[in-house]
Amino acid sequence: QPNVVTVADMDAADALNLINEAEEYKHGKKAELTRPAYAANLFFENSTRTKTSFQMAEMKLGIHVMQFEAGTSSVKKGESLYDTVKTMESIGVDVAVIRHPENEYYRDLIKHPGLKIGIANGGDGSGQHPSQCMLDMMTIHEEFGNFTGLRVLIIGDLAHSRVAHSNAMMLNRLGAEVYFAGPQEWYDDELAQYGTFGDLDELLPQMDVVNLLRVQNERLSGVENGAFDAEKYHEQYGLTHKRYSKMKRGAIIMHPAPVNRGVEIDSDLVEAPNSRIFRQMQNGVFVRMAILSRILRYKGIM
Ligand code: CP
Repeated sequence: QPNVVTVADMDAADALNLINEAEEYKHGKKAELTRPAYAANLFFENSTRTKTSFQMAEMKLGIHVMQFEAGTSSVKKGESLYDTVKTMESIGVDVAVIRHPENEYYRDLIKHPGLKIGIANGGDGSGQHPSQCMLDMMTIHEEFGNFTGLRVLIIGDLAHSRVAHSNAMMLNRLGAEVYFAGPQEWYDDELAQYGTFGDLDELLPQMDVVNLLRVQNERLSGVENGAFDAEKYHEQYGLTHKRYSKMKRGAIIMHPAPVNRGVEIDSDLVEAPNSRIFRQMQNGVFVRMAILSRILRYKGIM
């Protein structure tokens, strides 16, 4: 694939191949490049995990990493995203990993026939987060070995979450049963094609995977933000000890992080025995190695 921008472009076989390669990297597979390769991580929104784990993936693959900070770049002088990316290509960068607040920012880039640089989407607004989605799929696959018939509950800020949109779509493609819970006003009708919205406390005891979402204060409107009561949210939709005790035996907890401790989840459950939150981060490096490998193979560099 020339670009990895949305899981909508990936069918179940593609996704399983990517998970398989990520698992191979985790178990020690080494990559060989046909020539020196260069990547730039262009982050126009804050990030800890996605940016550093793409950097780690690049280093593990032997790719040279170009330094780029949006805050001190010529974007501040009004340079467009296209011109920024084209500049990276002109100086010899092979792959750009981009995070941007605008939904589907990548559409305008990938339709340019002249743009040869590969693009990996590190998250677009409330649109897609394909690398997070695939590290979540890898974590579920590692735990259960398959997706068919698995029950996955996605809880919380569904409307603003690119993780919810990517994961619901891909889980549905892979044969899992998808359920949603959280505040009705944060539900997105578009998700109905992938699963069923219901009551958190009725659904929770039947679920194999409890996928919590971060409350995205930065994407709430001023009115929503003003009205948001973290304590009330925790009581109504958070993973409290009481809810934790009702989870099915063998069920796992996931959260893309950063976690609002005490809001989406009781702080001391973040590292509960069946939490996979830090495993997700570990798997993120290997999934990102597999994503970059796809792009490099397409470009003949691997
Ligand atoms: N999960 C995730 O995307 O984290 P960052 O925003 O820190 O990259």
